[in-house]
Amino acid sequence: MSGDEGSGGVESGSVGVGDGSAMEAEFDTLAAWTEDAVRELGPRYAIPAACRGSGSPADLRWLADGLGLHGDDRFLDAGAGLGGPAAWLQVHLGVRWQARPLVTDPMPHAVAAARRLFDQPAFAAGPRSCP
Ligand SMILES: C[S@@+](CC[C@H](N)C(=O)[O-])C[C@H]1O[C@@H](n2cnc3c(N)ncnc32)[C@H](O)[C@@H]1O
Repeated sequence: MSGDEGSGGVESGSVGVGDGSAMEAEFDTLAAWTEDAVRELGPRYAIPAACRGSGSPADLRWLADGLGLHGDDRFLDAGAGLGGPAAWLQVHLGVRWQARPLVTDPMPHAVAAARRLFDQPAFAAGPRSCP
């Protein structure tokens, strides 16, 4: 399977992190494969599969407590990958925090997966292109 299969026509090429082919392999191609795997396995695997670095529930709970999100607080995850941690926050803080997270990542397949898996507002942006 190549990174372009199952990617829904997403253009390859990261935003603002140099030519970074190793980074693209790890964070862009693997993002597309992860989305494909979730489609095969089912939606209950989406959040665990899309947490690619901060995947421990204890760590996510610690982060959630530290953020102290309430009501319609705005939340931007920069370097969000496939949006798994932001989706975890939505599920676990759903009573006290109802806003939608905004997620960005330099890798186009990662942000496309965040949109498709979690319906998150997501855009490709790197350190030099974030508005
Ligand atoms: C280990 S993954 C973690 C993704 C996500 N935060 C998570 O916990 O699942 C690191 C992410 O940071 C992104 N990234 C790398 N360099 C970045 C930069 N300079 N600015 C913003 N994001 C960057 C990568 O594309 C990758 O998706």
